Amino acid sequence: MKNISIDELNQQFKAQPLAEALKELAAIFDGQKMVFSSSLGLEDQVITDAIFNNNLSIQVFTLDTQRLFKETEALITETEQKYQKTIVRFTPNPEAVQEYIQTQGLNGFYESVEKRKKCCYIRKIEPLNRALKDAKIWITGIRQEQSEFRNNMQLFEYDSERDLIKFNPLLQWSTEELWDTIRTNNIPFNPLHQKGYPSIGCEPCTRAIKPGEDQRAGRWWWENQEQTKQECGLHTSQVTK
Ligand code: ADX
Ligand code: SF4
Repeated sequence: MKNISIDELNQQFKAQPLAEALKELAAIFDGQKMVFSSSLGLEDQVITDAIFNNNLSIQVFTLDTQRLFKETEALITETEQKYQKTIVRFTPNPEAVQEYIQTQGLNGFYESVEKRKKCCYIRKIEPLNRALKDAKIWITGIRQEQSEFRNNMQLFEYDSERDLIKFNPLLQWSTEELWDTIRTNNIPFNPLHQKGYPSIGCEPCTRAIKPGEDQRAGRWWWENQEQTKQECGLHTSQVTK
């Protein structure tokens, strides 16, 4: 691998179509651990399609929180069958889950931001840390359109807490572009997207949005949005551009 800076990567990849970008990245970082985190959302399905169809050496994984919608569970299976590939599941530590349920209650996350973040830590962050161990590249489906917070993100970022390079290849894609790609390429998608759920997380923490509402308004909807920015901590570690 040649030494390449974040600035150079951002410059080199700014006009690359998705599949070309992923192929080029896989070539540049050949031999290094490259992973893609999929929540099975529209963005993630578009990226998964490009990775699987091109047989790229990028591991596709999902954080199976054990609180997912049944539609999301079904989509994992449907996607694996269509491409004949595996989506690796990272599940929470059973003892930590048991302790949470016993001390905070199964749905204790509705009671405070602190309790919600604790649940997200056990079911998402700690498994994510395992999934990202020794990874050099972490690909995500983040888009600028999703929120004000995400509007400031870059195509490539250096995550100093994890010492890896984060790549957000769909950063500037619009929702229309996503749907066009899904339909043109017959990519499987979550039926909940057509029932008012643009952004889908765990079942008890996601509701449908009303017309005109923000794309992420259905996530942790009971919380003060200014306080939490409707993020669970997956994408809030220290990054430099
Ligand atoms: S979240 O932080 O609010 O949960 P969001 O649902 O918007 O994230 O998804 C943004 C990106 O985070 C996804 O494209 C994916 O890369 C990653 N992600 C979110 N949830 C999961 C999950 N359960 N498993 C794997 N990756 C996830
Ligand atoms: Fe727990 Fe809700 Fe976070 Fe899922 S989104 S890990 S159920 S608090």
